[in-house]
Amino acid sequence: MSIVSLFSLPIYQENDASITSEKDGKTLSRICSEGMRPSDASVQNCSTISINSYVLEDDNLRSTKDKILNHLNKYVETIICPKTNINLYITQSWILSTKPGQNHHEHYHPNSLLSGVCYPKAVENDKIHFDIVQQRLFPLFFFDASEWNIWNSTIQWIHVKTNDIIIFPSWIKHYGELNPDQTTNRIAIAFNTFIEGNIGKEDELNQLKIKSIKQK
Ligand SMILES: [Fe+2]
Repeated sequence: MSIVSLFSLPIYQENDASITSEKDGKTLSRICSEGMRPSDASVQNCSTISINSYVLEDDNLRSTKDKILNHLNKYVETIICPKTNINLYITQSWILSTKPGQNHHEHYHPNSLLSGVCYPKAVENDKIHFDIVQQRLFPLFFFDASEWNIWNSTIQWIHVKTNDIIIFPSWIKHYGELNPDQTTNRIAIAFNTFIEGNIGKEDELNQLKIKSIKQK
């Protein structure tokens, strides 16, 4: 017997110690001290995010932004393999802080092509969870299972550690679960992206020419 898995979703993961430095840590602390708000005010014990939602435009984080763009371009070149030149750029970016006892609610990122998160400070046994309803075996049914595998699972996760960067299609729902055993804060930088350039094919009537306006 063989089981053929026909489709898969590419989640990019790399550990890059050069993404943030000690100096960047001070910049992140300064931005956090300028103001944080709940990531979702309707959720109890939720994480907080920086009021500044363009943190990667901070001059002191220029190197971090360039490194993240390099990883994004690797995703584009390796996975999307566009025939035409497209420029992927970062739209909004923010700091996410999750203290012990807090959780990061399930969400996805509208108005973005690829999203990502890098972890200047992950916590012990840290994970990012993905819940892909559209990819479930039977999206409208739930079977309890004696054993979970990659086909019957409704949720899958990736272990993450400090200096990891994760990139995924923005429509995928994801969250960080509450872990009462954690003793330290998770500090992460999250970001959205969009593209400029020409995509599609003129003769197939799906061509799209996208120009960006200057960012904030
Ligand atoms: Fe997110």
